[in-house]
Amino acid sequence: MPGPVRDAGHSSPAGRTVSPGAHPEEAADEVGLRPSRLADFVGQAELVEHLSIVLEAARLRGDPPDHLLFAGPPGLGKTTLAGIVAAEVGAPIRITSGPALLRGGDLAAQLNELGEGDVLFIDEIHRLPRAVEEILYPAMEDFELDITIGKGPTARSVRLGLPRFTLVGATTRTGLVSAPLRDRFGFVARLDYYPPEELERIVRRAASILEVRLEDGGAREIASRSRGTPRIANRLLRRVRDFAEVRHGGIVTQEVAQAGLALFGVDTLGLDKVDRAILETLCRRFAGRAIGLSTLATSIGEEPETVQSVYEPFLLQLGLVAKTPRGRVAMPAAYTHLGLPQAGTPTLL
Ligand SMILES: Nc1ncnc2c1ncn2[C@@H]1O[C@H](COP(=O)(O)OP(=O)(O)OP(=O)(O)O)[C@@H](O)[C@H]1O
Ligand SMILES: [Mg+2]
Repeated sequence: MPGPVRDAGHSSPAGRTVSPGAHPEEAADEVGLRPSRLADFVGQAELVEHLSIVLEAARLRGDPPDHLLFAGPPGLGKTTLAGIVAAEVGAPIRITSGPALLRGGDLAAQLNELGEGDVLFIDEIHRLPRAVEEILYPAMEDFELDITIGKGPTARSVRLGLPRFTLVGATTRTGLVSAPLRDRFGFVARLDYYPPEELERIVRRAASILEVRLEDGGAREIASRSRGTPRIANRLLRRVRDFAEVRHGGIVTQEVAQAGLALFGVDTLGLDKVDRAILETLCRRFAGRAIGLSTLATSIGEEPETVQSVYEPFLLQLGLVAKTPRGRVAMPAAYTHLGLPQAGTPTLL
C-alpha cells in the first residue's frame, strides 16, 4: 500500500490530483485500479528497471532517493508512479500541483510540513510560477529554504534547513519545464504510449479487480482501441462491462466489446468524438489548410491546452495530424480514416 498521506493544504487527496484526462466520475475507480507497488506496474520495462535501481541504491545507502521527474501524455501512469515511489520507500507522500502553488508562501508551507525522507509530489510542475520555482531550487539542491521576513528596508532573508526529502514532479509538457528545474532532478523518465499487449495485461488486471468476466478476445479488442493509454483502457473496460451487463448477460467477448465500443462512439483506431471532430475540422472545414491551435480548439469547443495535451499527442503519433510552423494540418491517413477524398498533399514546411 502507498505510504500514509499527510494533509497537504491546498492539494487534492492522494492520487486524485486534478488531471485534464480523467473524468471526475472515474476518480474513485481510478484510485482502486492504481497499482501500489512497482511489481504491479505493467509495462514501461526500461523505466521500471531504472527506477528500481534508483530506489534500491537509495535504500542501500540509507538516503531518500534522488528527485524524480515523470513526463508524458495524460493517463500513462505518472501519478501512479509517484504513489509507488512513496510505497517502495515506505514514506508518506504529500500531494500538490503547480497551479495550487501560487505564491512562494504556498510552497514554503508545503516544504515546512515535510518530515525526513518524505515524498513531495508536485503534479503539473510545468505550471509552477517562476517565483515559486526559484524557491524550489535551494530546497531541491541543498535542502534549504530561503524566506524573507518583514517588508521594505527592514526585510531580511533567513535560511532554514529542511529535512532531506524526495521531490517527485509530473508533467504532460516536458518542453515547458525550465532547464534549471529539469537539471535539478536526478532522474527524468519519459513515459511512452503502451503497446497493445501491455494494455491487454492492464485490462485483464482491471477486470479481475472489478470482477468483470472478460474473454481474451474482449481484452484484445479493448486494448487495441485504448490509444496506448491505461486510463482509457480502464475506462473502455467499464463502458463495455455496462453494455455486456445490460445486453449480453455480463460476459465480455470480442463481439460484445466490438459492439459496445461502437455504441459508445469509439472507432477502430480508438478515436472518440472529439478526435474525429479535430480531424473533420482539419480535413473538411479548413480543407487541408494549416490552422493554429486556438482556431482548432475554438472550432471544436475545447480548451487549447486540452487539445494540445490530451488529444493531439495521439493523433500526431498515429500520423493523422502533423504540426507545421503555420499550424496543424491533416495528413493523408486522416482522410483515409474518415473515408474522405484527399485534399491534396499537405506542405509540411
Ligand atoms: N503501468 C500501469 N499498469 C497498470 N495500470 C496503470 C498503469 N499506468 C496507469 N495505470 C492506470 O491508469 C490510470 C491513470 O494513471 P495515472 O493517473 O497515474 O496517469 P497520469 O500519467 O498521472 O495522468 P495525468 O497526466 O492525466 O495526471 C490509473 O488509475 C491506473 O489504474
Ligand atoms: Mg496524474
